[in-house]
Amino acid sequence: MKIDGTPFRSIWVDETDGWVVRIIDQTKLPWAVDLVRLTTMDEVAHAIKAMLVRGAPLIGASAAYGVALAMRADPSDANLSHAITVLGATRPTAINLRWALARMEAALRPLGGNARAAAAYAQAAQICDEDVATNAAIGKHGMQLIAERARSNKPVNILTHCNAGWLATVDWGTALAPIYMAHDAGIDVHVWVEETRPRNQGASLTAWELGKHGVPHTVIADNAGGHLMQRGDVDLVIVGTDRVTRTGDVANKIGTYLKALAARDNGVPFWVALPSSTIDWTISDGLSDIPIEERAQSEVTTITGRALDGAIATIRIVPKDSPAANPAFDVTPARLVSGLITERGLCRAHADALHEIFKETA
Ligand code: MRU
Repeated sequence: MKIDGTPFRSIWVDETDGWVVRIIDQTKLPWAVDLVRLTTMDEVAHAIKAMLVRGAPLIGASAAYGVALAMRADPSDANLSHAITVLGATRPTAINLRWALARMEAALRPLGGNARAAAAYAQAAQICDEDVATNAAIGKHGMQLIAERARSNKPVNILTHCNAGWLATVDWGTALAPIYMAHDAGIDVHVWVEETRPRNQGASLTAWELGKHGVPHTVIADNAGGHLMQRGDVDLVIVGTDRVTRTGDVANKIGTYLKALAARDNGVPFWVALPSSTIDWTISDGLSDIPIEERAQSEVTTITGRALDGAIATIRIVPKDSPAANPAFDVTPARLVSGLITERGLCRAHADALHEIFKETA
């Protein structure tokens, strides 16, 4: 997608030196577009952990390039194992991390040390290119849900939570890909962007990228979504996901489950967009089998923003002795999900339906 007319991916290899990994530091958005250079595996691990990069597909792509940097420094068996262990421990919920590392290991382990660095860069680049193509396909399939709700007198109102746009993937996004494609096709769309406390990925990232692309949107407090549904102001919910079980349970940013409940109560379709790399075929019960990341209390007790004098400030909003809890994801049971938008098409959130379109997994 474009930033002020210039096409960007969320991760790429520096063209001048051919090996340094470049990312957009998402902790600086929407205040600054800070292009960071990552030169070691440890820097990549830090970028994932500290959420300079985030979003399930981008976490996977970043880890792949982390392995490539590790192999450039030392292509030994021991260092390959070390890189996979360190990168694999950065974040627990998004399955794309494990998926990408398994793919890197399968491609690199059989090779001799000398061949590993080049092969690692090639495999990471392939993971990125495939992610772009996959998300474009998700966009094409998901766009039909928007197109069938289009009318002449008002826009199609779509509610989304967190950021599942191009910043969370290599390009296009998952939940936002259908929205970008509908907008580009001339369909009148409007997006309700939930701010997504505590880290505000909706307010800071989704609003920013939709704005840069010219997509009409309105930021709302997370608690406003149910009310808007009751008023008939939401035609469709589309969210992304960090892990889907083989039975269609969906882990996504904390607060997603409440929107699914409200959507069900109000007859609003609740769709989840995902690449197949987000499906964990080994588990069937999202509530017991998906590890939920517990993040720092400070994300709840403080808030960061731009003060009226222009300075970026972090302020405390909770009494100093009050503890906070910060589960970062929740699980929406398959029964509350209207359907899944995958690169192979739309399907029910159900094991049979998933195996039907991903036959190779049955
Ligand atoms: O904690 P984050 O910002 O990595 O969480 C991201 C989300 O929950 C996204 O909605 C999800 O990864 C889907 S990204 C296409």
